[in-house]
Amino acid sequence: MIQETAVFIRQHFEQEGSGHDWWHIYRVWQMARQIGEKEQVDPFRVEMAALLHDLDDWKFSESRESRAKKWLSSIQVADVDLQAILQIIDEVSFKGSGVKTRPTSLEGMVVQDADRLDAIGAIGIARTFAYGGNKNRLIYDPEVAPEQHDSFKAYQQSTAPTINHFYEKLLLLKDRMNTETGKRLAEERHQFMEAFLEQFFREWQLEEEQST
Ligand code: ADP
Ligand code: NI
Repeated sequence: MIQETAVFIRQHFEQEGSGHDWWHIYRVWQMARQIGEKEQVDPFRVEMAALLHDLDDWKFSESRESRAKKWLSSIQVADVDLQAILQIIDEVSFKGSGVKTRPTSLEGMVVQDADRLDAIGAIGIARTFAYGGNKNRLIYDPEVAPEQHDSFKAYQQSTAPTINHFYEKLLLLKDRMNTETGKRLAEERHQFMEAFLEQFFREWQLEEEQST
């Protein structure tokens, strides 16, 4: 069932270019599996939810009918697992600004950690600028006071430069990790983002780039 779902999801996401490509799903799947090995989780639910977690993203789905539910029914997943998997997916998705919600199951916490890890670090930086480029946004606007970059409220959300996204979300994620493994991995990725931003602003100011 997991392999069948992976094939289905890969086909579905093959053409997605806005940060939600198959390889995002693949990384979250593998990461969730890795974190799950250290927790007392049901591995089937973790893997299935990881594979299906972005299928019904509100940004992309045109119908209200749950594609994940339809898929799980079609491959005859047991009802108790189907309900649990849909619950994980529901709790994991960001739903716009609902970043703070903590999943009610350990499986959900593992999948959420895996999804958040993919939003930070080097890969997170790459995905963020890919998303901004897809929306035609500036990477940064030096004519806006620095403190305004802390909040996208300074702009219409639709036109905020991509760098704002680090302050409104990405730098907050490390303190919202659920599992010990997730926290440890997030720490390293967080430090890399801090270093990236420091260098980014140093280059804007034409400051001497030193290798200290
Ligand atoms: P996820 O797949 O992690 O659930 P989202 O749908 O929230 O994530 O976002 C997909 C990718 O696009 C992530 O890497 C995220 O950081 C990035 N992204 C989302 N919103 C913005 C934004 N306003 N500006 C830049 N990048 C964004
Ligand atoms: Ni995701």
